[in-house]
Amino acid sequence: MNAGLIGVGKFAPSQVLTNTDLEQRLDTSDEWIRTMTGIEERRIADDSMDTSDMAYEAAVTAIEDAGIKPEEIGLIIVATVTPDQPFPTVSNILQNRLGAKNAASMDISAACAGFMYGVITAKQFVESGSYDYVLVVGVEKLSKITNWEDRNTAVLFGDGAGAAVIGKVSEGRGILSFELGSDGSGGKHLSQEGRYLQMNGREVFKFAVRQMGESAINVTEKAGLTTEDVDYLIPHQANIRIMEASRERLKLPKEKMSKTIHKYGNTSSASIPISLFDDLAEGKVKDDDVIVLVGFGAGLTWGALCIKWGR
Ligand code: UT7
Repeated sequence: MNAGLIGVGKFAPSQVLTNTDLEQRLDTSDEWIRTMTGIEERRIADDSMDTSDMAYEAAVTAIEDAGIKPEEIGLIIVATVTPDQPFPTVSNILQNRLGAKNAASMDISAACAGFMYGVITAKQFVESGSYDYVLVVGVEKLSKITNWEDRNTAVLFGDGAGAAVIGKVSEGRGILSFELGSDGSGGKHLSQEGRYLQMNGREVFKFAVRQMGESAINVTEKAGLTTEDVDYLIPHQANIRIMEASRERLKLPKEKMSKTIHKYGNTSSASIPISLFDDLAEGKVKDDDVIVLVGFGAGLTWGALCIKWGR
């Protein structure tokens, strides 16, 4: 039996920061941001809300959606590059707040590919029979490592959380294939040095266009399928132009690609589960759809999944 996603949750902070707000602070324009990235607004968590608080909100929803109790969770994996502090980890904090008294917990750091790394790790534990349920959260408070005076990065990022419970699903459904990868030689293009995130946008852009398309095709083939079998694509929401390039590789029409970047910006490890949550709520992903999830990020890292949706 395959592992699959049996419950999902999301949390987006209520405070909205629009492109027009950013025009007041930076030498930028709404028009540049929309055309070059597809972003219209993003959410920012205030000082009272740290990474673990957002993770908790998304996790509670995912656990309810899965119809399980926190005590049934065997492992909690939190993917983040913006933890509350280096340790104790966000997953430790979450384990306690959720009352998940039988759960082991660990954070993983794979930047924007973090949720992919988390789900694929969870799949191994579930399919081996080690744990019945693994909770995976992708969460970022990128606003705390953003240099608000750097227009190259400040316009791109947002805060938020997405979560999923991984468990066994019925025959034929669940995770059909996956791919993970990394290339540390590209680490210099996107890094945190000192307090702030720094990025060579052009280089990351070129890498992302190539890698997202390739990984999407690879997982489709590994699942024994062709692009014609894919019903829906959920790419990491980094830049609409990068997302469109991967959609074209899969030869999918516009409406078959998830797009939430205009509302949330780039929320790194949270972007894919947030998109999945919204797509499910809007009926864009249905039982037995074949969906491809693909992410890339600092490291450089990447990961992709092909899933036959449903429990
Ligand atoms: O999750 C992974 C994390 N990162 C990413 O996914 C980012 C990947 N990269 C990108 O999304 C794109 O590279 C950007 C959106 C960041 C930039 O787009 P680009 O097509 O690579 O443009 P560029 O960096 O070559 O900049 C074009 C121009 C430059 O001006 P000049 O040199 O042509 O005069 C920039 O200085 O746009 C300028 N520029 C801006 N102008 C207005 C850069 N940032 C801004 C800004 N507002 N915020």
